[in-house]
Amino acid sequence: MWESDAGLLLRVDKDKMPRHVAIIMDGNGRWANGRGLIRSAGHTAGVKTLKNILKTAVNLKLESLTVYAFSTENWKRPLSEVDFLMHLFSDYLRREMLEMHQNNVRIKFLGRTEDFSPALQNLIRQSVALMKDNTGVKFNIAADYGGRDEIVRAAQKLARRVQNGELAPENISEELFDDALDTGGQPPVDLLIRTSGDLRVSNFLLWQAAYAEFWFTDTPWPAFTPEEFVDALVAFGKRNRRFGALN
Ligand code: IPE
Ligand code: IPE
Ligand code: MG
Repeated sequence: MWESDAGLLLRVDKDKMPRHVAIIMDGNGRWANGRGLIRSAGHTAGVKTLKNILKTAVNLKLESLTVYAFSTENWKRPLSEVDFLMHLFSDYLRREMLEMHQNNVRIKFLGRTEDFSPALQNLIRQSVALMKDNTGVKFNIAADYGGRDEIVRAAQKLARRVQNGELAPENISEELFDDALDTGGQPPVDLLIRTSGDLRVSNFLLWQAAYAEFWFTDTPWPAFTPEEFVDALVAFGKRNRRFGALN
């Protein structure tokens, strides 16, 4: 097991833990600029934060953790930044996959990923294959991911089954649709965290977050700590989730 701060973990009431936490890891660029650094330094620092938060999730035995690493819209950024991020993803997987595996993490990628370089796609396949039988935290990395794009791809998958005569349109249910998404088989998002002060979803997990509790912080992602992650989990435990019903 990764070393852990036992006192920190004790703050979380196991009976009130979310099953699925999703994080919009925002604010790398602003964090860097605020320190007179270039944006890429913020992305590098953000990877360290991710490592710490994954460790905490492992130690808390969280069921699913999904992080937003690169959106379908992020291709609009300058080529130099996109390139930097792609190299960072490759380095991250190369460096971390063995340790993740040793910690029983099961990695998965949400999104298109086919526009990534062959080398990165290879690392993605390799890491998924290495960890496919693991039973610990389901760690989903959303990369070249857009919620609308995912819904369209799911619709296409189901449409092909209808076309093949395997499925009748009236049998397309919420459950079947949910299964056709990249997160198929995982619970819906209970808690959605966004760092760095913006109050929006930015095309993340549109279907899965239908009844998520939202938790926002002004802290930019590179400065986000396991302590603040636990603050969010504790706050989640105090929320009154009604799902449309009455108490
Ligand atoms: C999040 O930080 C990382 C990615 C979107 C890849 P940003 O790069 O969006 O940083 P800000 O929001 O511009 O500060
Ligand atoms: C969302 O952040 C995507 C990721 C964190 C990967 P952005 O920085 O791209 O979102 P906007 O542009 O502020 O909505
Ligand atoms: Mg941003």
